[in-house]
Amino acid sequence: ASKQRLLVVANRLPVSAVRCEDDSWQLNVSAGGLVSALLGVKEFETKWVGWAGVTVDDEKGRQTLTQALAAKRCVPVFLNDEIVQQYYNGYCNNILWPLFHYLGLPQEDRLTTTRSFQSQFDAYKKANQMFADVVQEQYEEGDVVWCHDYHLMFLPKYLKEQNSNMKVGWFLHTPFPSSEIHRTLPSRSELLRSVLAADLVGFHTYDYGRHFVSACTRILGLEGTPEGVEDQGKLTRVSAFPIGIDSNNFIKALQLPEVQNHIKELEETFAGRRVILGVDRLDMIKGIPQKALAFEKFLEENPSWQDKVVLLQIAVPTRSKVPEYQKLSSQVHEIVGRINGRFGTLTAVPIHHLDRTLDFHKLCALYAVTDVALVTSIRDGMNLVSYEYVACQESKKGVLILSEFAGAAQSLGAGAILINPWNVSEVASSISYALDMPADEREKRHYHNFKHVTSHTSQEWAATFVSELNDTIIEAQLRT
Ligand code: UDP
Ligand code: G6P
Repeated sequence: ASKQRLLVVANRLPVSAVRCEDDSWQLNVSAGGLVSALLGVKEFETKWVGWAGVTVDDEKGRQTLTQALAAKRCVPVFLNDEIVQQYYNGYCNNILWPLFHYLGLPQEDRLTTTRSFQSQFDAYKKANQMFADVVQEQYEEGDVVWCHDYHLMFLPKYLKEQNSNMKVGWFLHTPFPSSEIHRTLPSRSELLRSVLAADLVGFHTYDYGRHFVSACTRILGLEGTPEGVEDQGKLTRVSAFPIGIDSNNFIKALQLPEVQNHIKELEETFAGRRVILGVDRLDMIKGIPQKALAFEKFLEENPSWQDKVVLLQIAVPTRSKVPEYQKLSSQVHEIVGRINGRFGTLTAVPIHHLDRTLDFHKLCALYAVTDVALVTSIRDGMNLVSYEYVACQESKKGVLILSEFAGAAQSLGAGAILINPWNVSEVASSISYALDMPADEREKRHYHNFKHVTSHTSQEWAATFVSELNDTIIEAQLRT
């Protein structure tokens, strides 16, 4: 049988483009959990629609980029600078992202934010319409159209307005907050109604789905049922689909000579020291300052560990035009500098902080050689870094310390040490517990999580979502 055709629509394409001197295009793999998970999905005939992370104003550039992307089965949506500023930097990442992660609106310019709110919201709708137009061009009858994330909450509505027979699903990769948070958004009702135009709406956890249904019942006055949300006889299915990773891809990579070499190099570099690993986009939600402060407390309380352990923090640059992210960057550098000044020696520092991305093979090697992974998100939709760490720890059986505020705490809670990242003392003592943990306890915890990570993959996640979307549509046809 031929594979089901799938149009994946996400703000971020799996590759981001950089224009070279000679006008050719360099395509780099994009960072973030959404892209990682979706790249693992192979059983569909998939085409991506999204933004390549660059503005291109000339016709020739648009043509050559479109061609370069076609080889990766990607179709670009061209956003101009003004839209990127108002929609992506503004409404998406300065308003929706912090709000969905319970951070509220940016403190210092709350009034400016309030003033620019309307123009950013207009740009958001305009951008969503641009995505809808490109989907319309690519769409063939029978395609499943799968919309992703908080950038595209108007997309289901616009797609259904163009073609009410289109099969439309929408999946949120972030938490959906309590309805008490969502109701503070001036555009709260329009956003909910637009999402409800989809046939199936999915979240990582049952809790996020329940928050969404309560927002619909309390704010829109609609009826919530065990299946979803009902509006005048029309049902929108709402359900939880916890995402996973392509675990085999990580396990296989560890055997590659290149990765083995990286592993050897890292082992030599850190010989005699235990290594605690952090891998995060440099984002407020990841609790990076909290992590550094907890590590400082650990060093303070455990002088005997001081020259025997290092925190290796990979901080992947992200959204660097948004002021809150710039502030975070200087705040983190200040804290790390202070701690290194305080506990460093002539030849070593306790925190290695790198503002950079890693290629896949280096990342796998790091996951494999480190003793502890420290995930301190103050809110996180799922957190795939914790899954990837577990997948790479078959030989070492290192310890995962995981924030209870990450979606992953619900699936990896049994094997991880769960912590509240705001409780610096608790995190510090968990670090000490992890470093001293006996081998049999590490093994037990590891197997628990390894079983989960290898059996709840991104392939299975996508297959379940799409099959439920198809079922939902058949059921709806039977009802009418
Ligand atoms: N990652 C990356 N580049 C790097 C380091 C990590 O793309 O230099 C990937 C990592 O492998 C993981 C993703 O970024 O798949 C982060 O996903 P997660 O769900 O943990 O958080 P998100 O960034 O989506 O908030
Ligand atoms: C999170 C979001 C994704 C986003 C990623 C990277 O995972 O859920 O939608 O792609 O962060 O952020 P960026 O703004 O660079 O796309």
